[in-house]
Amino acid sequence: MLCWSRVLLLLYVLLLAAATEDSGGAAMSHAEEGPPLNVIVEAVSGTALNMSWDPPDEEPQYYEVTDVRDSFNELAYTTYCLIDELQPCTTYFYTVTSDYGSIQYSSPPTSGTTLASGGAPQDVTVTAVSESALRVSWDPPSEDPDYYSIAVGTAPGVPVYTTSYILEGLEPCTEYEISVASEYGNDEYMATPVMGKTLDSVPPPPLNCDFDRITTNSMYLTWSAPDTGCYIRNYNISWSWSSLWEDEHGSGETLSTGTHTSVWDLPAYAIVTVNIAAATDLGFGPPLTCWNVTQQD
Ligand SMILES: *[C@@H]1O[C@H](CO)[C@@H](O)[C@H](O)[C@H]1NC(C)=O
Ligand SMILES: *[C@@H]1O[C@H](CO)[C@@H](O)[C@H](O)[C@H]1NC(C)=O
Ligand SMILES: *[C@@H]1O[C@H](CO)[C@@H](O)[C@H](O)[C@H]1NC(C)=O
Repeated sequence: MLCWSRVLLLLYVLLLAAATEDSGGAAMSHAEEGPPLNVIVEAVSGTALNMSWDPPDEEPQYYEVTDVRDSFNELAYTTYCLIDELQPCTTYFYTVTSDYGSIQYSSPPTSGTTLASGGAPQDVTVTAVSESALRVSWDPPSEDPDYYSIAVGTAPGVPVYTTSYILEGLEPCTEYEISVASEYGNDEYMATPVMGKTLDSVPPPPLNCDFDRITTNSMYLTWSAPDTGCYIRNYNISWSWSSLWEDEHGSGETLSTGTHTSVWDLPAYAIVTVNIAAATDLGFGPPLTCWNVTQQD
């Protein structure tokens, strides 16, 4: 808590002595002694305040900064004093006194409040662990918070007491916005949100199969893409049929990149069962099964 170094103090005393000799003391009798003027206390950080003031008409030998509520006092030979090793978010009251040796003049107490010393989590990274989980990790800010809060999108935050966390129960191939905040009492410092995407999974079955243009030997089939965020490469359509008149059976198969296909080479009046499975880069998922009957001759 030093405002001034001893070397500078010595220099100041020598200069003052020289100046006093030069002016012969005549100027001093005109200038007026008094307390420091325009005292201000500014927060510099969570642990430091900078107190500064204007000199009175007549420069004192030195100033003395005093915390009005405890024993702290400090001499200053400039018109400011950096007071450190304080507590964050705390208000302090100081007076500053002009000391002329034989007489002192004090300013009224002036208050200053240190800043909150918390900070946002640093270097937040998100990596995919699986089709349903993301790992979030970060570095702590300079002052450890009470805890961290992790939120996915606009969902409420989850309290976390370590510097990494695995978010589970997510959808595959889906991009999530993740925010991490440091929590200090009533203060919160949030890091810039980071995006993360879960891994590919095999898709669920396609939806709503519909038959159309049913003839004696073919039918046309449409369906809807499965409910997934993953990219669908193609569909595997495989079918089997049984004649309703004779004991005949058969099957067929085709691939389609779109959500429609024809099923062909069927006999008249046969029951046809179709399985439609969608594929992502990881392969085919379970099929949707539907059936219909070809026209009679
Ligand atoms: C403190 O205030 C003085 C006077 O305004 C200024 O010169 C100095 O740079 C300040 N120091 C800090 C650390 O803010
Ligand atoms: C068979 O296809 C017709 C339309 O061609 C449709 O009305 C009917 O519901 C389908 N039957 C089944 C079991 O899907
Ligand atoms: C399409 O699906 C059928 C039935 O599951 C399977 O036997 C066949 O190998 C699949 N075809 C391709 C190209 O994956």
